[in-house]
Amino acid sequence: MTKTIVLAGDKGGSGKTTSSHAIAHGLAMFGIRAFHISTDARREVLPGEHRRYATLDGRDPKALGSILDRLDKVEGAVALIDGGGGRPDIDRVLAKAADLTILPFMQSQTDLRVVKDDMKRLPDAVALPNRWPTQKWAREVADRELGQELEGYVDRLMSPVPEINGYVTLLRDSGAVPKINPPCKQLALRVLERMGLSLFSFENAS
Ligand SMILES: Nc1ncnc2c1ncn2[C@@H]1O[C@H](COP(=O)(O)OP(=O)(O)OP(=O)(O)O)[C@@H](O)[C@H]1O
Ligand SMILES: [Mg+2]
Repeated sequence: MTKTIVLAGDKGGSGKTTSSHAIAHGLAMFGIRAFHISTDARREVLPGEHRRYATLDGRDPKALGSILDRLDKVEGAVALIDGGGGRPDIDRVLAKAADLTILPFMQSQTDLRVVKDDMKRLPDAVALPNRWPTQKWAREVADRELGQELEGYVDRLMSPVPEINGYVTLLRDSGAVPKINPPCKQLALRVLERMGLSLFSFENAS
């Protein structure tokens, strides 16, 4: 049975698409079969030619259903479902079908408040601070605001993904630059851990 991870959240531009490709890329680097499934009708499906994982078109709900039915019969694979902003009802349906729902968010006050509402609506989802500042002072401010806004939700917070140079190349037709391989692998491992899995859970992993 394929493990299913949904990247969701009401706020646009929080890193759903980038993070879903980053996780698929990281898993594939470990030899795990990964499938990236787009569900956002306003976005194109990126070609799979220069990627280590397949990209599938799930923008039509019927197509998504049949993809998930087919993947259900595949062993040792992981599907990354890339959601879309402003679709709380669809997020709820996708989260029900998922083994893990991840809500990426950035450091703005709006992002913090929107992700808090998402966490209330989706009680099993975890939130991923994304593009988190690394400069000491900025990091302290961001962490403090995070602690204040999301008090009581700390156990559902993943550790932050920083601003990563070259991350943008994950969404290029020509594929990602090699320098982003280590952070993608690290994120993939952390996501597996959140699902109670490790590389040992996958026969094909290297
Ligand atoms: N950790 C990061 N480091 C650097 N840039 C990032 C990071 N995460 C996301 N970005 C950049 O932020 C922008 C928005 O990301 P992305 O398109 O993945 O968001 P989204 O949630 O899928 O947006 P939409 O709601 O439009 O689908 C992109 O330009 C992406 O390259
Ligand atoms: Mg997107």
